[in-house]
Amino acid sequence: MERTELPVAVFDSGLGGISVLRALVRRMPGEDFLYFGDSANAPYGVRPAAEVRELTQSVIARLYARGIKAAVIACNTATAAALPALRETWPDMPIIGVIEPGSRAACEASPSGDIAVIATESTIRSGAYAEAILRRRPEAQVRSLACPLFVPLAEEGWFDGPIAEGVVSRYLEPLFEKSPAPDCLVLGCTHYPML
Ligand code: DGL
Repeated sequence: MERTELPVAVFDSGLGGISVLRALVRRMPGEDFLYFGDSANAPYGVRPAAEVRELTQSVIARLYARGIKAAVIACNTATAAALPALRETWPDMPIIGVIEPGSRAACEASPSGDIAVIATESTIRSGAYAEAILRRRPEAQVRSLACPLFVPLAEEGWFDGPIAEGVVSRYLEPLFEKSPAPDCLVLGCTHYPML
């Protein structure tokens, strides 16, 4: 089979990356996609970076051996921990993460450059979003916050109602109650848009 005929892999720690897959299918209807959600090892967001890197490398190795022409790392935590290592291991294959595109969108969308980023503990600890935003807009102010209860809430299917609203307010109100507040919020985790 020609390399161009192989599928594009879309990887996430679980099912959250299906939203990314959906967007890709809409943009590139002629491509075949292969989705891999590592539900057996999820959540990634509470793991140390080295562990996330190892898990991600092993999934991409399996997919590469099966035959893929590109890989989209739809998981923010895996992008933050593993993207440079993946690109080093498979230099001949395009590997696309979600942090660069998300940061670019935030830099373009924020008039003031006061940008809040919420993500898993592992992603926030990596500093990857702040670094990518400041590379594009060095004058930006980036406020980063881990919201560790959001993933279990979304996994449980509690997207709205008093519990979800209470948890979301508890994390986000302190970010937005002081003036001036950020004018852009990056949902730096596959599960957060569900909330
Ligand atoms: N997919 C992860 C992310 O985007 C969130 C879920 C997890 O912690 O595994 O960061």
